[in-house]
Amino acid sequence: MQIFIDTADIEEIRDAAAMGVIDGVTTNPSLVAKTGRPFQEVLVDICEVVDGPISAEVIATDYEGMLKEARALAKMHENIVVKIPLIAEGLKAVRTLTDEGIRTNVTLCFSPTQGLLAAKAGATYISPFIGRIDDISGNGMELVEQLVTIYQNYGLSTQVLAASIRHPVHAVQAALIGAHVATIPHNVILQLLKHPLTDIGLERFLADAKKIPTG
Ligand code: E4P
Repeated sequence: MQIFIDTADIEEIRDAAAMGVIDGVTTNPSLVAKTGRPFQEVLVDICEVVDGPISAEVIATDYEGMLKEARALAKMHENIVVKIPLIAEGLKAVRTLTDEGIRTNVTLCFSPTQGLLAAKAGATYISPFIGRIDDISGNGMELVEQLVTIYQNYGLSTQVLAASIRHPVHAVQAALIGAHVATIPHNVILQLLKHPLTDIGLERFLADAKKIPTG
């Protein structure tokens, strides 16, 4: 499973990239707004740090507007993948962009039927929002499973990008199901790494190392 980092914060991206654990980045307008910096400036910085797919979302909701923004974003850097919302105009834009060779990440997916249509339209990635489904007492991981199965059944090339991941169990379940990618916030990446027995073991080794006589 590929791991993308789900943030627009360049320091978080630098930190995870330095650990060598991320294959790409996803952003959305809310994440970019949190940085307090202009969108283009943030994207330029991210493209300098990570050599992998970098999702950048359009703001327009009409076909022509989405195409205009998408083409401009794709021109900025070869690694940019354009995020398109899962609405009818969005699917039309995905079809056109796919035909032009521009990669897309279809976002805000909450049902298997939406995911099937996105794949038919030629989406490069589909982003099921696990955490937001769990938030309303649904089962977000079931959607990931359904999408993986449907795409496998028909040899559809769209990759399932598990999004809206809130905790390590989401990441483990996505990997067990066989999601192609999980996009994970920085704090959750750190949680994946952490184990109390590692810390206790290291502390003991370091204490014992002090007892070793010097030659
Ligand atoms: C990433 O592509 C999504 O926009 C993001 O994972 C949404 O996460 P949230 O539901 O925690 O806002």
